[in-house]
Amino acid sequence: MDRIRIRGGNELNGIIPISGAKNATLPLMIASLLTDDTLTLENVPHLADVEQLTRILGNHGVDFSVTGKRLRQESGFGRTIHFTARNIVDTTAPYDLVSKMRASFWVIGPLLARMHEAKVSLPGGCAIGTRPVDIFIDGLRALGADIDIEAGYVVAKAKGGLVGNRYRLPKVSVGATHVLMMAATLAKGETILENAAREPEIVDLATCLTAMGAKISGAGTSTIRIDGVRSLSGARHRVLPDRIETGTYAMAVAMTGGDVTLTGTSVDLLPTAVETLARAGAVVTPVEDGIRVYRNGGGISPVDVVTDPYPGFPTDLQAQFMALMTRASGTASITETIFENRFMHVQELARLGARIQLAGQVARIEGVPRLKGAPVMATDLRASVSLVIAGLVAEGDTEVSRVYHLDRGFERLEEKLGRCGAEIERISS
Ligand code: EPZ
Repeated sequence: MDRIRIRGGNELNGIIPISGAKNATLPLMIASLLTDDTLTLENVPHLADVEQLTRILGNHGVDFSVTGKRLRQESGFGRTIHFTARNIVDTTAPYDLVSKMRASFWVIGPLLARMHEAKVSLPGGCAIGTRPVDIFIDGLRALGADIDIEAGYVVAKAKGGLVGNRYRLPKVSVGATHVLMMAATLAKGETILENAAREPEIVDLATCLTAMGAKISGAGTSTIRIDGVRSLSGARHRVLPDRIETGTYAMAVAMTGGDVTLTGTSVDLLPTAVETLARAGAVVTPVEDGIRVYRNGGGISPVDVVTDPYPGFPTDLQAQFMALMTRASGTASITETIFENRFMHVQELARLGARIQLAGQVARIEGVPRLKGAPVMATDLRASVSLVIAGLVAEGDTEVSRVYHLDRGFERLEEKLGRCGAEIERISS
C-alpha cells in the first residue's frame, strides 16, 4: 500500500492547475445512460473513482473511448472521454461494484428512466456515516416507481415509464437531487423538486442535460422544474473545476505561507470558504483564469465554522480547515452538521501535536505553536488530505498511510504540491 512522506517547513510558491470536479464528473458520466448517443466529457480528472465508475457503466453496456493527447497539449490534466450507451444490456448494479464507490448507486435514476427497471445494490455506509438512500427511494416512488428492498438490493420498476410529480426533499441531498433530476428528464409531464441541493455540480449536470435536450429550469436554486421529453441526444460538455480541490490547496497555502496561483478555477465556486479563509488571514483574490492565494502577513487567526449545504461552508472542506486551525493563534470551533462521523481525522491530527476536543458534532481546536511529524493513517478521502496539509508545516517527517483514499479525489497531489516547493514523495510498497 502506498504511503506519502512529507518533510514539513517549506512555503508553497508557484502555480497549481485545478482539475475537473470529481463530484461533477461522477453524475455526468452516469447521465450517459440516458441516451443511446455519445456523451463527450472534457476536463475529466484522472481519479480512482472515475476509473471505478467507468467499470460500473461498462457492466451496463456503456462503451467508452479516450481522446489521445494533441499537439501542444500540456500532458496530464483533463482527459476527453466519450461514453456511449447504445444499448443497456444489464439493469443490475451488483454489490461488489456499488460497494466500492457509493455514487454508483446513482445509476438507479437513469436506468429507471430509460429502461423502466433497475436492480441496484444498496451502497452500504462508509467511514463518515450510514449514508442512507431513503430520499432516493421516496423520490423515485413519487415519480411512479414501484420499489422493494430485496436481499440488499433496491428493486425498482416503472411500467410504462416514470411520471412527473411535485416532490419536496425532506433533507437537502446532493445525490438525491442529481438522481431525481436525471430521472425526471424522461418522465411523462412536469416534475418540481423542492428543497433541492444548490451545489455548482447540480448546475453543471443540469447544463449538460439541457445540452442533451432536457428541459430544466431553476438548477442552483432550491426549486428545480423539469419537463419530461421523449428522448435525449448526445452532447459535448466540459466538467467544471473542482471547488473542493481549489479550497484544499488554498488552505494548504494559508497553512504554509507563500504565494500560489490556482489556475482553471474561480472564487465564485466557493464563496463561503473564500470569506472564511480571508478571516483566517489568507488573501484569496481572483486573477485571470484563477485565484491567487497568499498570507496577509499576520499569523493564522481562529475562525469558527459550521458546515452547511451550498452555499454554506462545504463539509468536504471541514477536515482541511481543521488542519489549518491547529496552528491558529487561538481557539476555533468546527461544527459538522451534514455527516454523523466526519471527525476521524481528529485523532490523527492529535498524533502530530494538535489539541482538539470533541463534543458530539462540535470540535474545539486550540491552536498550538508547532506540530511535529509522525506516522498517521488516512481514514477517508478528505481526512487524508487534512493530514497532508498538517504535514506540510510539521517539524520533521510525516508519513500518511492508506493514500488510496487520497487517490480517489485528488489528481497527482504530490506532483502539484512538489512543483510549488513542498518536500513530498510517494513511497510505493
Ligand atoms: C455528495 O454526497 C458528495 N459526493 C459528498 O462528497 C458531499 O460530502 C455530500 O454530497 C454533501 O455535500 C458526491 O458528490 C459524489 P448528500 P451525497 O445526499 O450526495 C443524508 C467527497 O468527499 N441523506 O447530500 O451522498 C446523508 O446521510 C464526498 O467527495 C439521507 O438521509 O450526500 C447526509 O447526512 C463525501 N437520505 C445528508 O443527507 C438520503 O437518501 C447529505 O447527504 C440521502 C442523503
